[in-house]
Amino acid sequence: MQGSQCMTVVLALLTLGALKAYIDWSAVQPERQPTSRGVGTAWPPSPISAAEALDNEELGLSLRLNASLQLLRQNIPEASAFWNRRQHQIFRALEGVAGNASRWECGGDGGREAAAEIKDFSSYPVLYQRFLLHGDCRNYPLLVNQPAKCAGNRTFLLLAIKSVPGNFAARQAVRETWGREGNLGGLPVRTVFLLGSAQGSHEPDLRQLVEYESQLFRDVLMWDFEDTFFNLTLKDWLFLNWTVGHCPGARFILKGDDDVFINTPKVLGYLGSLDTHTAQTLYTGQVMANASPFRLRKSKYYVPESFYVGPYPAYAGGGGYVFSGRLVHRLLQVSQYIPFYPIDDVYTGLCFQGLGVHPQAHPDFQTFDIAEKDREDPCVHNKLLLVHRRSPQQTVRLWRQLGDAQLQC
Ligand SMILES: *[C@@H]1O[C@H](CO)[C@@H](O)[C@H](O)[C@H]1NC(C)=O
Ligand SMILES: *[C@@H]1O[C@H](CO)[C@@H](O)[C@H](O)[C@H]1NC(C)=O
Ligand SMILES: *[C@@H]1O[C@H](CO)[C@@H](O)[C@H](O)[C@H]1NC(C)=O
Ligand SMILES: *[C@@H]1O[C@H](CO)[C@@H](O)[C@H](O)[C@H]1NC(C)=O
Ligand SMILES: *[C@@H]1O[C@H](CO)[C@@H](O)[C@H](O)[C@H]1NC(C)=O
Repeated sequence: MQGSQCMTVVLALLTLGALKAYIDWSAVQPERQPTSRGVGTAWPPSPISAAEALDNEELGLSLRLNASLQLLRQNIPEASAFWNRRQHQIFRALEGVAGNASRWECGGDGGREAAAEIKDFSSYPVLYQRFLLHGDCRNYPLLVNQPAKCAGNRTFLLLAIKSVPGNFAARQAVRETWGREGNLGGLPVRTVFLLGSAQGSHEPDLRQLVEYESQLFRDVLMWDFEDTFFNLTLKDWLFLNWTVGHCPGARFILKGDDDVFINTPKVLGYLGSLDTHTAQTLYTGQVMANASPFRLRKSKYYVPESFYVGPYPAYAGGGGYVFSGRLVHRLLQVSQYIPFYPIDDVYTGLCFQGLGVHPQAHPDFQTFDIAEKDREDPCVHNKLLLVHRRSPQQTVRLWRQLGDAQLQC
């Protein structure tokens, strides 16, 4: 693979193309490290009163935050559905009108109070009930960390890949192919896999195997929570918090699933070609615009009407999207004022809307896959940035084909 001429030429071009961007970017100072205010505490935090805000060393930030949250406010209908009501309580608290928003302590009664507020709670699917019952607790310990992940040369692209403990083969395929760490064309690429500790209460305990894997490859982050679909928002949030602490200088973050295929050299070329302003406010992928909640009970994405009403903000499909590392700190801040939503990419869209950052559609992110006839075609993959979804075997095969000097496209 490394020896192939095709890849060498691509990398050489990348080096030239990206050098200027690299120099521009190195000159930009990283954002000031945030304080730990509100992080790792119970949800929701006490509202900011105007008086408190004046005392607050982060006055500028909270005022900007309050202002940008107004955009979100305009887009979330005020309704009696559970989530809408919670969000509007927080808006009011931010404006200092309605005093307090009730506190949801970890391990407290928050979840049960939430359940009691919803009249048809008992008819909710079991996973929804569990989502609500466990409240909005965000405080789960990190069992496996990679504290030195971003040490050394400043990370240009951090690949943050959502996986689950049992997906060993998928992770290995990523490591051997598009997720390989190193300096690609002079641009430092780092990879982390995001895992909970168990896939469910009836699953075998794979923690020791994952720990062993992490010692071998130093690319696993594992938190102590159940790795289920409705805990993906929690996973996202814990990753944001981790990034602020351990990789605050990353220029770009690509968040994706472990079964996507990413044309990493092409992604680097694209990111390296962006002007400074675009790069610093980037949020791009396959954009879902004008989406609304699914009301079909059988759907994985079902949302009961007593839980949420209204449209979704435009958001980038969670299979894979890229955003600017400079936004991480502010995303974490704004997320303190937005209750968790069971669908992770919608939640991310809500947070970006709260920051006033709009997703930019990119045609080469294909999170719903492509025409069947193209699925094994290396030339088609040569043009794309990201496609969902590929088996570990397909990933390895496609990557080899893309790196083959004989490949004629
Ligand atoms: C937040 O913004 C609203 C609307 O602009 C304003 O009325 C309120 O005073 C602000 N709150 C704080 C704490 O700045
Ligand atoms: C505010 O706190 C009081 C006392 O703890 C409580 O009775 C009231 O319901 C709370 N208000 C809201 C909007 O949560
Ligand atoms: C958030 O990050 C900080 C800094 O890395 C860490 O001390 C804290 O434990 C994290 N909180 C959670 C809930 O992971
Ligand atoms: C940092 O970058 C330089 C120049 O690209 C390279 O020679 C060196 O090996 C890199 N160091 C690390 C730790 O990646
Ligand atoms: C999320 O993880 C927590 C901690 O393991 C668990 O209590 C909760 O039931 C999980 N939620 C869902 C929806 O699986």
